Amino acid sequence: MPVMPSLVAPAISVGALAMSDQPVLPVEGDALLRPWTLDDAPAVMEAFQDPAIQRWHVCTADSVEEARDWIAAWQCGWREETGGHWAVVDAGGDTLLGRMSLKSFDLADGTADVAYWMVPSARGNGVCPRAVRTLARWALGPGGFHRLELEHSTANRASCRVAVKAGFEEEGVRRGAALHADGWHDMHVHARVRQG
Ligand SMILES: CC(C)(COP(=O)(O)OP(=O)(O)OC[C@H]1O[C@@H](n2cnc3c(N)ncnc32)[C@H](O)[C@@H]1OP(=O)(O)O)[C@@H](O)C(=O)NCCC(=O)NCCS
Repeated sequence: MPVMPSLVAPAISVGALAMSDQPVLPVEGDALLRPWTLDDAPAVMEAFQDPAIQRWHVCTADSVEEARDWIAAWQCGWREETGGHWAVVDAGGDTLLGRMSLKSFDLADGTADVAYWMVPSARGNGVCPRAVRTLARWALGPGGFHRLELEHSTANRASCRVAVKAGFEEEGVRRGAALHADGWHDMHVHARVRQG
């Protein structure tokens, strides 16, 4: 199908992200966002045994091999400029605390969707909202994005608090927008828009 010529320049030029390595981003305090490695597969497999991660992300990992395939796809996302996926790790870089992702890159409009989970043992200490803030600071700054969207089920109160604490304003509810194991969920939309 022929491409219709656009009247505006893209917010992020094609190739602008992939030409650089995916950044390592220190999280204030005690953690790091770093690109995934295939060695993270056993920890990812373990994380997806958690009922809360299964509930809200609507999937499970059946084997370490499957988790390796996911990680390979996440790594590909950066090279293909479709998404950016980071492991949240401790300051030493080895212990997996969670996942931060920018999904569904739209380079023309400069938008992406934020997603995250934390392993059960790393919850309850505020690392998650600080990690989301770190990611947003990079994305809306050097990353060149204009708008980041974050949405969660209205039943997921912890995720709502993370969004608010990370500075994502509430924009409204998309009714019956996501199918979970227990049926359709209303999705609460938050967003941060680049200032200036
Ligand atoms: C959502 C999640 C990432 C939050 O991580 P976390 O480490 O618990 O985050 P924090 O410790 O910083 O807590 C965030 C806030 O949520 C609140 N909270 C935690 N669990 C809660 C619950 N079950 N109900 C209501 N609030 C809750 C905390 O009190 C805190 O708010 P406060 O600082 O005002 O007290 C984590 O719970 C998780 O991985 N859940 C499963 C996967 C998931 O839900 N992913 C998001 C999908 S949209």
